[in-house]
Amino acid sequence: MSSHPKYRADIPLHIAIIMDGNGRWAQARHRPRVFGHQAGVKTVRRIVEDAADIGIKYLTLYSFSTENWTRPKAEIAALFQLLKKYVEDDLDTLNDNNVRVRIIGSREGLKPDLLKVIKKVEKTTEHNTEFFLNIAFNYGGRDEIIRAVKSLVQGGFAPADIDEKLLERFLDTTDIPDPDLVIRTSGEQRISNFLSWQAAYAEFVFTDVLWPDFSRSDLETAISEFQRRDRRFGNLSDTAEVA
Ligand code: IPE
Ligand code: IPE
Ligand code: MG
Repeated sequence: MSSHPKYRADIPLHIAIIMDGNGRWAQARHRPRVFGHQAGVKTVRRIVEDAADIGIKYLTLYSFSTENWTRPKAEIAALFQLLKKYVEDDLDTLNDNNVRVRIIGSREGLKPDLLKVIKKVEKTTEHNTEFFLNIAFNYGGRDEIIRAVKSLVQGGFAPADIDEKLLERFLDTTDIPDPDLVIRTSGEQRISNFLSWQAAYAEFVFTDVLWPDFSRSDLETAISEFQRRDRRFGNLSDTAEVA
């Protein structure tokens, strides 16, 4: 779903976060990288609560990219285990708080036990309406578009039928509005294949804070920065003098 061109609100409807810097956070403490990922999960818990409390409706968290498969096997296994444990441990709390959880990304390469947990959390929370938590796991923007195009072709659509709305129906984010604000922690300034279609008109805020240290006040700072931006969507500022 595209944001309405005139959408302008104090609080972004949808924030997406590239949660980066777990490894460096652990290294700085002379601990293994996985220690940083464990700390990162604690931040996820805090930020989900803070975002809901601030009035954000949609939060999308990038937790494993299609490129992260190139990492050492042990780290990949730990990241998979952490996702599974987070979903299992927090399902009841999230559900009690009327949170709808969706896992976006490819299901390829995921083991049956993880698939089962994903299905369970999505099914259990599917009618929840208070807050929408999307976890991008085994997610890549390019992979998502390719999977969408394959489904389109399999659906027998003719070239003349294809427009942005139709393609969006086949993306993992169907029914989820585009992100207004994308935050990346840890000082890197790139999107690393995150929501490449959906973030076409997002505002970007980069912070040096490493994900395990990311706090409510860092989130509020990013929102304040967003509020100072002039989102033009290709149009002109309200105050622009044309001639
Ligand atoms: C982000 O932290 C988590 C994932 C990408 C899974 P990193 O693991 O990328 O941490 P750094 O960037 O090496 O510090
Ligand atoms: C992006 O972080 C992916 C996630 C946060 C899940 P990376 O650490 O994998 O990105 P690069 O490799 O620095 O671009
Ligand atoms: Mg990183």
